[in-house]
Amino acid sequence: MVTSREPLAPSRPFEVDQDLSSPNRNLTPLTTRLDGEGRLSLGDCTLSDLARRYGTPLYVLDETTLRATCRAYREALARHYPGEALAIYASKANSSLAITALVAAEGLGLDAVSAGELLTAFQGGMAGERIVLHGNNKSREELALAVAHGVTVVADNWRDLELLAELAPSFPGPARLMLRFTPGIECHTHEYIRTGHLDSKFGFDPDQLEAVLRHLTTCPWARLTGLHAHIGSQIFELQPHRDLAAVLADALALARSLGHPVEDLNVGGGLGIRYVASDDPPSIDAWVRTVAEAVVEACRERGLVLPRLLCEPGRSLVATAGVTLYEVGSRKPIPGLRTYLSVDGGMSDNPRPITYQSQYTALLADRPMAEPNETVTVAGKHCESGDVLLKDLALPPATAGDVLVVFATGAYNASMGSNYNRIPRPATVLVAEGSAELVQRREQPEDLLRYDVLPSRLRYLG
Ligand code: LLP
Repeated sequence: MVTSREPLAPSRPFEVDQDLSSPNRNLTPLTTRLDGEGRLSLGDCTLSDLARRYGTPLYVLDETTLRATCRAYREALARHYPGEALAIYASKANSSLAITALVAAEGLGLDAVSAGELLTAFQGGMAGERIVLHGNNKSREELALAVAHGVTVVADNWRDLELLAELAPSFPGPARLMLRFTPGIECHTHEYIRTGHLDSKFGFDPDQLEAVLRHLTTCPWARLTGLHAHIGSQIFELQPHRDLAAVLADALALARSLGHPVEDLNVGGGLGIRYVASDDPPSIDAWVRTVAEAVVEACRERGLVLPRLLCEPGRSLVATAGVTLYEVGSRKPIPGLRTYLSVDGGMSDNPRPITYQSQYTALLADRPMAEPNETVTVAGKHCESGDVLLKDLALPPATAGDVLVVFATGAYNASMGSNYNRIPRPATVLVAEGSAELVQRREQPEDLLRYDVLPSRLRYLG
């Protein structure tokens, strides 16, 4: 593979500088380069070579970017928070053994929301003590699995507490609990509102906080060690996070006044990333600094001993490290309307455009700098008219066989994927320093039949 060490020169449509300290502000992974033939490479692996070797659609993860993002969180917490702190990876963004192992090696914790995410975390090498279990409807089995591994359970509602009380006789000691409540801060992309009662399925209503804290003083099987609130996702404003710190500090004062040994304040995740050039999220450093300063100030105002500060980034940790490669197939020009360019994946590997009208940025893998003098709409291959990945994308003329690279697909793509139309899930490769390793095998059509059962009376009918 011929590669150049030169960073990708900023050029259409990349007129955004690489921010080495905060990958969430970039459109492309930190190791994006042009190889000796002007083709795009990541981690010194030419992307079209990867497409040929592993097939398409293909998720590619850049280890350098992932590790840099973990470090950005770790270092910003150390820089701006005078007490202990821990960043916890919200694994719903992208759960796999390889990502868990990398995140664990970088010293982060992990947030899981199901038995599947818990098992992935355990087998990926994350210590139970560094894991928190979230969820608004945890099963008995999920709770038992978590407590047996020393995972901190985030109590979300009375049902969690009932189930835990039932399971308590089997606990080796008191279970570590965190309490989640609705903070009354709702964020939108460009504005936020504060209300007393939020319409949210997650967490205790703030009105119930005192009652549940009092109830927990009567539960010898529980040790309440933390408080949690999360305000939303893909957020660019900082002010809601300041307000959240004050709300959490009030709850911390109350919990401690009732005798709970609360050490952890968990502010959730939510920092946004750049999907298209016009997005302008704050840096990881600015986000952490805002949160840290607000927590310190809120605790000082209330005379509280500083808690350990936890945050739960998901998207901003993994999104920019990931790209998806597709092979271009059919083309349908509709004169005067638009030209559809179809690729070999779509809403089953990236359900975000059809679900949230999310926008993405894409380039041709082998002609990233060619004049983008055609406007196309990139459609997926699913039987659904809305299966469109990118609308009105400026591209150089592309033909069947070209490889299209869609950026910032590392979060909430693989983890939210489906088998719609019985389309198998893509493989994932991890790239670093010129080597590519398969970390998730490609599903095969036969795999999709594994759980089908054909009763014998239905065999050979007709
Ligand atoms: N902590 C809790 C309790 C959460 O519910 C979430 C995300 C996070 C942390 C991580 O938030 P992040 O840093 O990723 O913003 N599927 C949607 C995003 C759903 C986020 C759900 N909760 C999407 O694709 O945009």
